[in-house]
Parts: sequence; C-alpha cells; structure tokens
Amino acid sequence: MPDTPHLAAQPALSIFYQLLQFRDQRRKGGGMEAIATTLTEQDMRDIAAHYATLPAPAPQTGGDAQKIARGQQIAQQQYCSSCHGAQLQGQKHVPRLSGQSHAYFVTQLRNLRSGARADMDGTMASAARSLTDEEIEAMAAYARSLP
Ligand code: HEC
Repeated sequence: MPDTPHLAAQPALSIFYQLLQFRDQRRKGGGMEAIATTLTEQDMRDIAAHYATLPAPAPQTGGDAQKIARGQQIAQQQYCSSCHGAQLQGQKHVPRLSGQSHAYFVTQLRNLRSGARADMDGTMASAARSLTDEEIEAMAAYARSLP
C-alpha cells in the first residue's frame, strides 16, 4: 500500500530498531505502536531477520528522468549515500531507501525534517533539515528507481 513501507531486503538491524521505537512510543504511525507492544525482543529480531532475506522490491521504471537525475545529485551532495549506501540499499541500522514506496518516502522525510518523527540519534533530522519539498520529491523518485 502506498503509505506502507516495503520491508523486504531492509537491513535486519534497521527493522529491529524501528520496532523498538514503535514499542516505546518514540515513533508513531500506522497503528504500529500497538502491534509492537505484542512482540518480544526476540520476536522482533526474528521478524527482522526474515524480512532481511526477502528479495528487494522491483525498481520503478519510466519515472521522470530529470527528477531522478536531480535526486541522484542530491544524494551525493548531501551525503545521503554515505549512510544509506551507494545504491541507497541501507546498512546496519540505516534503512534501505531503494525501491521504497514514493508516498511513504515523502511522508517520512517530511516528518523527519519537521521533527514529527524523531529519529534515534538526531543524525537523520539534521540531514533532512535543509531539504526543500522539491528536493524531497526528487530524492523519492531517485530512490524508487533503484534496484
Ligand atoms: C548520518 C547518517 C545519515 C545520513 C547522512 C542520512 N540518513 Fe537518512 N536515515 C539515517 C538513519 C539512521 C535513519 C533511521 C532513523 C530512525 O528512525 O531512527 C534514516 C532514515 C531515513 C528515512 C526514513 C526511511 C524509512 O524507511 O522509514 C529516509 C526517507 C531517509 N533517511 C532519507 C535520507 C536522505 C534523503 C538523506 C540525504 C539528504 C539522508 N537520509 C541522509 C541515517 C542517515
């Protein structure tokens, strides 16, 4: 569903940490807080390990080439790739962005920018702070186009 993230191929640690944040009510959305309270930490690790092994979502083809190129430029200039990976594939606790749903990506980045979604250590909030709406749209188009 557009507002629901693709979890397949997300780094296991990233899913695990997000579930902890939902459980502790530090992140809210999609009714995930209630769901996460029913899970033990071992359940969370097991679920995360499962999703991490699933094949990545198929990249979207035929997107706006100009927007995608702009997104790629921003990813390099703003060091998004230094944490999220060269193909925005994620690593350790840093989520995978490639193939992510456009609507979800845009909402999350706006929420991280405004502080409506608090991240673990504030690094993502500072990365998002200076992004314009146009740059967020371009980043989402770029991420969605990646395998
Ligand atoms: C210093 C490392 C770092 C940099 C630089 C960085 N990110 Fe992040 N990003 C993270 C971490 C860690 C999270 C998970 C935050 C959390 O919820 O605790 C995240 C989360 C996100 C999310 C939410 C993903 C999801 O599945 O919920 C998006 C979208 C995102 N980053 C986009 C970007 C973009 C675009 C840039 C460049 C402008 C960027 N990030 C730069 C570390 C980074």
